[in-house]
Amino acid sequence: MKELQNKITIITGSGSGIGRETALLFAEKGAIVVVNDVDETKGEETVDMIHNHGNEAYFIQADVTDAISTEKMVSAVIEKYGKIDVLFNNAGISNVGPLHNIEEHDWDNIVDVNIKGVFLTSKYVLPHMMKRQVGSIINMSSCVAEMGLSERTAYAATKGAVLSMTKSMQVDYAPDNIKVNALLPGTIYTPFVEGYLSKSSDPDAAINKVKQRQLSGELGKPEDVANAALFLASDQSKFIMGSPLYIDGGVVFGKNA
Ligand SMILES: NC(=O)c1ccc[n+]([C@@H]2O[C@H](COP(=O)([O-])OP(=O)(O)OC[C@H]3O[C@@H](n4cnc5c(N)ncnc54)[C@H](O)[C@@H]3O)[C@@H](O)[C@H]2O)c1
Repeated sequence: MKELQNKITIITGSGSGIGRETALLFAEKGAIVVVNDVDETKGEETVDMIHNHGNEAYFIQADVTDAISTEKMVSAVIEKYGKIDVLFNNAGISNVGPLHNIEEHDWDNIVDVNIKGVFLTSKYVLPHMMKRQVGSIINMSSCVAEMGLSERTAYAATKGAVLSMTKSMQVDYAPDNIKVNALLPGTIYTPFVEGYLSKSSDPDAAINKVKQRQLSGELGKPEDVANAALFLASDQSKFIMGSPLYIDGGVVFGKNA
């Protein structure tokens, strides 16, 4: 028996990076994966990859900042499968720069995607989990929720909010047998990180500098986070509630001399 056999799973932002890797892993472990992304081409690519492995998935395009499209996505899943077992609120964007250089619309945008996206998707999924008295919600935070990092004020604000939301959500939905936990990755090599490193004047030096932050001396890989998400999605984590799970090569609790 596979860990996620027949579990209906929504993974937001799974057209790329960590979300895509998790979608592939969950499908391999028996889940039926609803691949969500705002980008249709990338989302369909993830579905093709899952189908090529002989597993089940389908794509729903939705912008997690939009209540109407998010509600429609959830309704479509319920109409097709009648239940939702796992929600991975993974979609997110970054913002790099000191506070005084952040434009108001960039602030609003990151708050919308990274916080409101978690709120809206959870809002529409939760009643279906409550009805069946079972479910697992995994919220994507980041280790910047727990530590200061240069030029990340906007991003850290959103990921701190997601961690706080996780804890309060857990209290509210524990009586419904719904787990709500958070993932706190360190630097994971995905298009998200590639994007901001490539803007540096010396990308190789920038990547080497980031590597030094980890006790491992390496960046994380999307599969490192996908494995942690699998654990939180599965019944093996049934006594883990409202918790942050760090996947960060020791960045938060270790110190590189
Ligand atoms: N990569 C890292 O180092 C790292 C570290 C900590 C946390 N995270 C978090 O992990 C998550 C995934 O990051 P990644 O590195 O895989 O990024 P990524 O850019 O590779 O993938 C993010 C995906 O989210 C989608 N997306 C963006 N806005 C959306 C919206 N409004 N609605 C639906 N989909 C949307 C994008 O199209 C993209 O496919 C993010 O929440 C990010 O903050 C990443």
